[in-house]
Amino acid sequence: QTRKLTIPDISARKQGPPLAMLTAYDYSWARIVDRAGVDMVLVGDSLGMVMLGHTSTVPVTMDDMVHHCRAVARGIEHALLVADMPFGSVRSKRQALANAIRLVQEGGADAVKVEGGAETANIAAAIVRAGVPVQGHVGLTPQTAVSLGGFKVQGKDATAARKVFDDARALADAGCFSVLMEAVPAPLAAEITKSLAVPTIGIGAGNQCDGQVLVMHDLLGLYDRFVPKFVKQYAKLGETATAAIQDYVRDVANRSFPAPEHSFHMKDEELALLLK
Ligand code: KIV
Ligand code: NA
Repeated sequence: QTRKLTIPDISARKQGPPLAMLTAYDYSWARIVDRAGVDMVLVGDSLGMVMLGHTSTVPVTMDDMVHHCRAVARGIEHALLVADMPFGSVRSKRQALANAIRLVQEGGADAVKVEGGAETANIAAAIVRAGVPVQGHVGLTPQTAVSLGGFKVQGKDATAARKVFDDARALADAGCFSVLMEAVPAPLAAEITKSLAVPTIGIGAGNQCDGQVLVMHDLLGLYDRFVPKFVKQYAKLGETATAAIQDYVRDVANRSFPAPEHSFHMKDEELALLLK
């Protein structure tokens, strides 16, 4: 459990058991996620929404990614650390290489994730050749959600399904160690999973993928602005936190916090001397 996972460890899981992947964006949560037994931690550009309050992932910069990735890397002992290549960071091969290397060298990432299908395959291949493992991301790609018609399922009819299939295969052929599929019909994700030699990771892609990924804030109930259909809330930490903070505000108002056990004391004589 404490040994650091490597790419071959992830590849071997094509034969099961399924891989669990989850996002984290800071040191304290990275420790919690890592110790809970997650196989891959993703510093997702979803941080733009859940950590920074943007309404999409488009404004996220390389500096944002490196900043959060470094913090997460310090908290991880076991999981493979994957960092997202943010919007606009893979416009050319040259720029993609520089940015991927930055996420590894400055951010401490083990691998990077690139959104896009067949059209990104040559960029993905170049990053892999430079020695940085790449996870592909097909189906609903949030960075280009506007072009895809919004945050909606991809590949529902045969033509669209063919595109998702070809995208996934192109990325696997380009040398990606894994392909993530977001918001695609479960039967399509199952067929793609069967046909690829590398592990597939699903989010909104049914239970036949080789692994699953979720955004930590969605899983824990910490983000209420938008809860996609594919999210299962395993806890309502947002409500728990609100109740705890309300208790604190009440205790401050009625002076029941801090109690004597939270306070520093001095001898009465010393106070008397002071006041003399
Ligand atoms: O940024 C992110 O959190 C992601 C997952 C939703 C896969 O890319
Ligand atoms: Na992302």
